[in-house]
Amino acid sequence: MRLGAVIVAAGRGARARGEIPKQYMNLAGRPVLRWSVDALARAGVEQTVIAIAPEHAKFGRAATEGALGVRIVSGGVTRTASVRAGLAAVDGADVILVHDAARPGLTPEIVRALVGAIQAGAAGAAPALPIADSLRRMDRRGNVTGEIEREGLMRVQTPQAFRAAVLREAYAALPVDASASDDLAVVRAHGGACVLIPGDARLMKITYPEDLALMERMFGSQSVTCVGTGFDAHRFGSGDHVTLCGVRIAHEKGLLGHSDADAGWHALVDAILGALGEGDIGAHFPPSDPQWKGASSERFLRHAAKLAANAGARIVHVDVTLVCERPKIGPHREAMRSRTAEVLGLPVSRVSVKATTTERMGFLGREEGLASQATATLERPA
Ligand code: CTP
Ligand code: MG
Repeated sequence: MRLGAVIVAAGRGARARGEIPKQYMNLAGRPVLRWSVDALARAGVEQTVIAIAPEHAKFGRAATEGALGVRIVSGGVTRTASVRAGLAAVDGADVILVHDAARPGLTPEIVRALVGAIQAGAAGAAPALPIADSLRRMDRRGNVTGEIEREGLMRVQTPQAFRAAVLREAYAALPVDASASDDLAVVRAHGGACVLIPGDARLMKITYPEDLALMERMFGSQSVTCVGTGFDAHRFGSGDHVTLCGVRIAHEKGLLGHSDADAGWHALVDAILGALGEGDIGAHFPPSDPQWKGASSERFLRHAAKLAANAGARIVHVDVTLVCERPKIGPHREAMRSRTAEVLGLPVSRVSVKATTTERMGFLGREEGLASQATATLERPA
């Protein structure tokens, strides 16, 4: 069963009155939209299409940096139009989930329960909660004009899951300018049988200014900050260059090693693996394995970043210190930062590269080798 998702994120967030649209605001260290992207990936969704307003493309890219299987398309003037645009870009899925970017409290459990309902035979399924408060009708002046029986009424949330073919047919049959309140309504109007599963209070939609603070309190305990450290050293040998943090530097010696001997990135890979509790670089890329002979360390770093993404973790910051008398690192520092930032999908401001010497003491001082140590700070689901 192949899972695809559409996240609608093309709204303006007018009622939330933020400086930027609510789906791009920071919530417990990540953009609101990113929480849903990561939860869908953890739940086994292979492709996620995000519909955004074209004028917010920069926010959309920043919020999805480093995320795998994500495609961004232009949304429409209504939510319904945005779903339609997203749906057109999903290919080959059996089940499609449609989700509001404004509901960041998505968990893989909800996704699994929804997919289970579809596997059990429903055309569509959505999470929903009962209403605890009593309901009244009110006129514009605040006068109560009627009671509403709440028995049998439910508050419906997203994501809503559908058999892909049914959802596509229902949208194809919907008049182009029609606007429905959600996708369950579109599928039901086309005759699809839908069910509700138990919802989750954390799936509340951020709508008004106070909602983000409420979510922030709910989310505070959901992520933990983990710091990993790494160390590596390589011996100098014959050669005419060294590669450090992905940058080739001409030098009268080379560094010996099984791969390209990039001690900076090796220490960094170990730091990321450390923060994930995923062992060390040797366990992932055994030096005894001939396929890593002369390999570019970019592959190791990309692998570590992928492991982090798969674990739902976010690399917040990395710091690398190179220890050598020569070559001089200063002139290459900025290039090293940019390359590292590029590979990890981080802004340069979250990447630090520093250098020091050992005042000519020890093996580093005698220029027998070069060492590096690194720290990586990751935010992981609690
Ligand atoms: N949405 C969309 N395209 C639109 C309108 C809304 O993709 N043309 C998305 C929003 O980004 C949000 C979801 O639909 O994730 C639910 O909409 P809502 O909560 O109303 O968000 P906004 O329209 O952004 O907020 P507001 O109505 O306050 O402006
Ligand atoms: Mg709206």
